[in-house]
Amino acid sequence: MRIEPLLSAEAIREVVTCLGQRISQDYADKDLTILGVLTGSIVFVADLMRAIPIPHRLGLLQASSYRGATQTSGELTLEVSLLPDVRDRDILLVDDILDTGKTMSAIVSKLSAYGPKSIRSAVLLWKKERTVVEMIPDYVGFEIPDAFVVGYGLDYDDRFRHIPYIGVLDTSDADQAPS
Ligand code: IMP
Ligand code: MG
Repeated sequence: MRIEPLLSAEAIREVVTCLGQRISQDYADKDLTILGVLTGSIVFVADLMRAIPIPHRLGLLQASSYRGATQTSGELTLEVSLLPDVRDRDILLVDDILDTGKTMSAIVSKLSAYGPKSIRSAVLLWKKERTVVEMIPDYVGFEIPDAFVVGYGLDYDDRFRHIPYIGVLDTSDADQAPS
């Protein structure tokens, strides 16, 4: 498997800094709680939090739909046992990537039932042409083409999350010796 670089660590750093500034301005008078969607968002969440100087809380929830493949199974599981009390809070949902958008919209409708004051979404990557739900993320780092990407938290079969940049995964030689 080969990884073709798409977004450098430096480019990601700059965009995360800009997002952090925008979020800090928009939430200056609010009670911000970031909710990170495990597992792919953890690197983004960790960097984004340090780019947001205003006080804020962190909660986590887990959404799984990709099981070792580059295509979704269509089954979405949401694990909310790590979720803090979100009632009357201003929630910013943070995920690594918005692809079809089904994950984000499912999370938004589930969270709405807990009575938050507001819910917005932030994604580092948006595969806009693949999105099938009526949802536009409020904060977007990069719009990217329809390709399977890894690195900076994003995985393929739980691999490549540790790579500090984002690249397109080429699986065309996947039958050969693992790299
Ligand atoms: P959606 O429900 O189709 O928007 O899928 C969103 C989830 O699928 C993200 O949270 C990722 O975990 C995963 N995903 C979508 N595209 C990619 C990709 O290119 N690389 C790695 N994970 C992806
Ligand atoms: Mg995910």
